[in-house]
Amino acid sequence: MPGLLGGDADLVKALSLLALGGSIGAALAAALQWRLRGRCTVTRAALEASEDRLRWALEATSEIVWDWDLARDTLYHPSWARTYGYRLERTPRTGRELVPFIHPEDMPAFHAEVVKVVEGSQDVFEIEHRVLAGTGEWRWMLGRARAASRDAAGKATRLVGTCTDITEKKRMAIKLQIADRMASLGTLAAGVAHEINTPLAYVLANVDCCLERLEPLTAAGDGAAPTTDVARECVGALRDAHAGAARMRDIVRDLKAFSRVEDDVREPVQAQASLRAALSLADLELRRRARVVLDFQPVPPVLASESRLSQVFLNLLVNAAQAIPEGHPDRHEIRVTMREMAGGKVMVEIRDTGCGIAPEHRHRIFDPFFTTKPAGVGTGLGLSICHEIVSALRGAIEVESEVGQGSRFRVILPAASVTQADVRRAQPEVAPRELVG
Ligand SMILES: Nc1ncnc2c1ncn2[C@@H]1O[C@H](COP(=O)(O)OP(=O)(O)OP(=O)(O)O)[C@@H](O)[C@H]1O
Ligand SMILES: [Mg+2]
Repeated sequence: MPGLLGGDADLVKALSLLALGGSIGAALAAALQWRLRGRCTVTRAALEASEDRLRWALEATSEIVWDWDLARDTLYHPSWARTYGYRLERTPRTGRELVPFIHPEDMPAFHAEVVKVVEGSQDVFEIEHRVLAGTGEWRWMLGRARAASRDAAGKATRLVGTCTDITEKKRMAIKLQIADRMASLGTLAAGVAHEINTPLAYVLANVDCCLERLEPLTAAGDGAAPTTDVARECVGALRDAHAGAARMRDIVRDLKAFSRVEDDVREPVQAQASLRAALSLADLELRRRARVVLDFQPVPPVLASESRLSQVFLNLLVNAAQAIPEGHPDRHEIRVTMREMAGGKVMVEIRDTGCGIAPEHRHRIFDPFFTTKPAGVGTGLGLSICHEIVSALRGAIEVESEVGQGSRFRVILPAASVTQADVRRAQPEVAPRELVG
C-alpha cells in the first residue's frame, strides 16, 4: 500500500477508487483521503512556520522591506508605520499615497530613478531621499530597489526594495564638513593675522617715533612759524595714522582670538569680551547698514571657549546686517542687549530692523546649507554652526521674526557656576583614598 499511497497522483487515485465503488474501493479512498489530509496539515504548518520566520526577520531588521505591484499600484511594506512613527492605518497603500511623505526637493530625482528601472534602462536604483516622519522631522533614507518581474515589452511590473535610515550618518557627515570649514577658516584667519601683525608693529613703532620727534617742534617760538605749522600738520596726520594702525592692531587681535582652533577649551569667560570681539570684526558691515546700539548689563561669566562664542555672535551680527539693505544706516537699528536672567542664565539678544524671516523658512533656518542668500554671499552654515556651539554649551537659541519688521535672535547660556555645579552633580567626585580603601 505505501507505494500506492505515496505518489503525486494520490488525489487522482483516490477519485478513481471512489469511482470504482464497492467497499474495498471506498476503504482505499478513505485511507488515501486521510493520508492526503495529513500531508496538507504538514505542508500548512511548514508554510506558517516559514511565514513566521519571515515576519520575525522583517520585524527584527531596521530596514523597511517593500514590494510594489506596479500593475495594480499596491504597496506592501508592513514595517513602514512603525519605522516612521505613524499609526498603522496611515501606511501608504499605493505609490500615489506615498508621494506626500517624500521631500518635494528629492521627488524629481526619486521619480527619475524609478522610471529608469521601470523602463529597463537600469536594473537597480539606489537613491538618498528624505521622508517625513510622524514627529514632523525629515529622516534621510537610502532607498534601493530592483525589478522583480517585467512584462513582454521589458517594462517592470513589480519592484522590490529596501529603505535604510541614514539620518545619523548624514548628520555626522555634515558635522565633519562644518568642523572642516571651521578649521580651515581658523587656520586662514590665524595666518592672515600673523602676516599683518609684523608689518603693523613697525608701522606703529615708526609713527610713534616720528610723533615723538615732531611734537617738540610744534611748540617752537614765533620766529619759526612756517616750520611750526608744517610740524603741526604732520603731527595731525601722524596721529590719524596712529589711530588707524592701532585699530588694525585691535582687529588682528580679535581675529586671532576668534580663529584659535587649537584651544577649544572651555573656561569661565565674559560674554561681553566675545561680543566686543565680534562687534569689532563686523563693524564695517554693521555701520554701513544700521545704527548699532549696545545695551549691556553686568552678567556672570559663562563656561565656554571665548573664540567659539565670538563665532556665534559674529554669525548673528552678520546675519542681522545682511538682512538690512546698504546705504541708509539712519533708518535702521541693530540692538545688542546683554542681561542676566533668572535661574543663573546669561542672555544676549541681537535684534535688527531688517527684512525678517518668511514663516515658511522659519523652521529651516538652522538646517545646514539652508540659505536665501545668493551664491557667494551665504553658504547656509552660519546658524547651524551657532546651534551646534550653543547646544554644546547647554544653551539655547530662540528666534522671533516678522516679515518687514525685523528679527530677534536670543542666545541663552547657563552661567559658569550653574554649569560647573551640574557637571559636579553628574559626576560625583570620589576621593582616591576612598577607592583605595
Ligand atoms: N537676522 C536675520 N534676518 C533675516 N533672515 C535671517 C536672519 N538670520 C538668518 N536669516 C535667514 O536664515 C538663513 C540661514 O542663515 P545662516 O546664517 O545659517 O546662513 P547664511 O547667512 O545664509 O549663510 P552663511 O552664514 O553660511 O554665510 C539666511 O539665509 C536667511 O534667510
Ligand atoms: Mg549667516
